[in-house]
Amino acid sequence: MIRIAIDGPSGAGKSTAAKAAAKRLGIDYIDTGAMYRALGYKMKMNGVEPVEDEKLARLLEDTDIDFRAGDIYLDGEIVNDKIRTPEMSMAASACSALASVRKKLVKLQQAMAGRKSVVMDGRDIGTVVLPDAELKYFITASPEERAMRRFKELKAKGQDVSYDKILSEIIERDHNDTTRDVTPLRQADDAVLLDTTEMTAEEVVNRICTDACKMI
Ligand code: DC
Repeated sequence: MIRIAIDGPSGAGKSTAAKAAAKRLGIDYIDTGAMYRALGYKMKMNGVEPVEDEKLARLLEDTDIDFRAGDIYLDGEIVNDKIRTPEMSMAASACSALASVRKKLVKLQQAMAGRKSVVMDGRDIGTVVLPDAELKYFITASPEERAMRRFKELKAKGQDVSYDKILSEIIERDHNDTTRDVTPLRQADDAVLLDTTEMTAEEVVNRICTDACKMI
């Protein structure tokens, strides 16, 4: 069994690398950012504000999030595209700062990993969710490079977006994610740092798979 934890800021290429590495290794991929996005989306749809503790507690009790065949399900509905908008990025960032939300999702993520091989990516995987993961990486890149990647990705999906707006949102989210009181984003002491500003996606996947193969 091998559990690979991948953390880092938004748009650093974590998901692309994690998904490709999982496929090559023939193991499951769990995108925990998608889980925070799904919950942020549900809070928005239901008009629940982060400060409304009781409403939020009821909503959390009443929420089912699952991954099947690479799709993210929110209460039985596939929400892959609905959660990938700049608005939902901000909603996810806001809801991920809430202790009750993190408690519920961390528990769910630990149960999903169970006792099987997985590649899991997020912000607290190596530090909190899977602290005894066999391999840990902290993947990062400059904010400008990350903004350009996100800009191209959203453009390719036909969304009308501005590079400057994406860059300022990335800087704002980095600030939120690294300074929040509850589990701020940080590199685990035993994680390998991969700065992908000058690395191709292929090089990142090769590095992870080479390390993993030595352990299997
Ligand atoms: O990776 P992403 O951009 O899809 O993540 C969306 C938001 O959720 C982001 O602001 C950080 C947060 N997040 C988190 O706090 N912990 C995780 N394990 C995954 C994501």
